[in-house]
Amino acid sequence: MPLQITANRPDPALFDLPWSTPLEEWDARYLAALPRGISRHVVRFVRVGDLVIAVKEIKEEIARGEYELLRSLRRLDMPSVVPYGIISGRKAADGTPLDACLLTRHLEFSLPYRALFSQRLRPDTAKRLLDALAVLLVRLHLAGFWWGDVSLSNTLFRRDAGSFTAYLVDAETGQLLPALSNGQRTHDLDIARVNIAGELMDLAAGGVLEDEADPIEISENIVLRYEQLWEELTGVERFETGDRWRVDERIRRLNQLGFDVDELAMTTDVDGTSIQIQPKVVDAGHHSRRLMRLTGLDVQEGQARRLLNDLDSFRAGENRQNESEEIVAHDWMTRVYEPIARNIPRDLTHKLEPAQVFHEVLEHRWYLSEKVGGDVTTEWAFADYLAHVLPTKPDEESVVGIDTMALPVVARRSGPHTTA
Ligand SMILES: Nc1ncnc2c1ncn2[C@@H]1O[C@H](COP(=O)(O)OP(=O)(O)OP(=O)(O)O)[C@@H](O)[C@H]1O
Ligand SMILES: [Mg+2]
Repeated sequence: MPLQITANRPDPALFDLPWSTPLEEWDARYLAALPRGISRHVVRFVRVGDLVIAVKEIKEEIARGEYELLRSLRRLDMPSVVPYGIISGRKAADGTPLDACLLTRHLEFSLPYRALFSQRLRPDTAKRLLDALAVLLVRLHLAGFWWGDVSLSNTLFRRDAGSFTAYLVDAETGQLLPALSNGQRTHDLDIARVNIAGELMDLAAGGVLEDEADPIEISENIVLRYEQLWEELTGVERFETGDRWRVDERIRRLNQLGFDVDELAMTTDVDGTSIQIQPKVVDAGHHSRRLMRLTGLDVQEGQARRLLNDLDSFRAGENRQNESEEIVAHDWMTRVYEPIARNIPRDLTHKLEPAQVFHEVLEHRWYLSEKVGGDVTTEWAFADYLAHVLPTKPDEESVVGIDTMALPVVARRSGPHTTA
């Protein structure tokens, strides 16, 4: 069989890559040096036109299964890497057949957890990563996706204002079902707990985890966080008929967690004295949708929340509470947001996403105000940030030069795969 490319919109430049060579032996000139998590299969990054593509060498059947699953997850609007295509029918020069390759688009500004830990970070970083992973798992489960290999290595993280957003990177063991049973959810959580404890023990052994951080305790926290969120998003609530405000209150709480309620079931008991409510369909992205509607900006949820807060204080500061929100939002965009987002020097745009820079400038403004003991302007904070803070950051669009594979691997992960 000749070389075959299956892709949505394949770039002919793909033919220039050395498919007749095992991926492990590809010459460095083809490769983009980006950090990778630990994996069983060989994974490399290559440049194809304007894109950076992750190539994973894997059996054709598995590649096709994973490709289809990733496509379904995209349709469901789940945070996951975007599938690009499959290369099959590979043969070495001597005719020996080679495994297929699954291609996914490199997730910009994403970081494998080992890159986040390669410099010692604030002690609560592990907690914030696991919070993000708990949100991802709840979203996947709500959509009927059973992951089967939940771990930090199978997740990518992007900075999202003060926290992180987690993306699924490895769907190989997953299954998409109409809905998950409690048993299936618990099974995934057990896998998560065991895998993550193992991964954190590796980090502890490598001396990159804070001494007081206990891998077992942190990994159990993900289960707690997951269960709290699951209960808030799906739990039944019962109250007296007179307490109808509790419907609004539930919706507001869900909004605060970043979810919109698309469908809420409401029933009364037989004698009509109490009401029972239960969210049936919830959609993540409450703040990012609102910001998108007001400004057209497409950013992550935590960043959107931060930007909306700044918009609110702009509105209050200008005393324009009675004006249409859209008009005030437009002014805020042109006078506050864009002067920052558009004026990040070109050579620094690879450091952080513009919305993340904006968030950091607001943090920096707060820090400067504390230091000088009074208000400082955003312009001043931005200038100071550009001069002193941003240049010191690593490039996160494509963090080059962090050799995450050089960190030690001591404990073995359990589950269907062991680390390579
Ligand atoms: N699209 C992508 N964008 C960024 N990084 C990626 C992408 N695809 C893969 N990676 C990196 O490569 C690593 C390995 O990928 P993946 O987990 O799919 O391989 P695997 O061999 O199937 O893993 P496992 O050992 O869990 O079976 C990931 O942890 C991630 O760091
Ligand atoms: Mg993996």
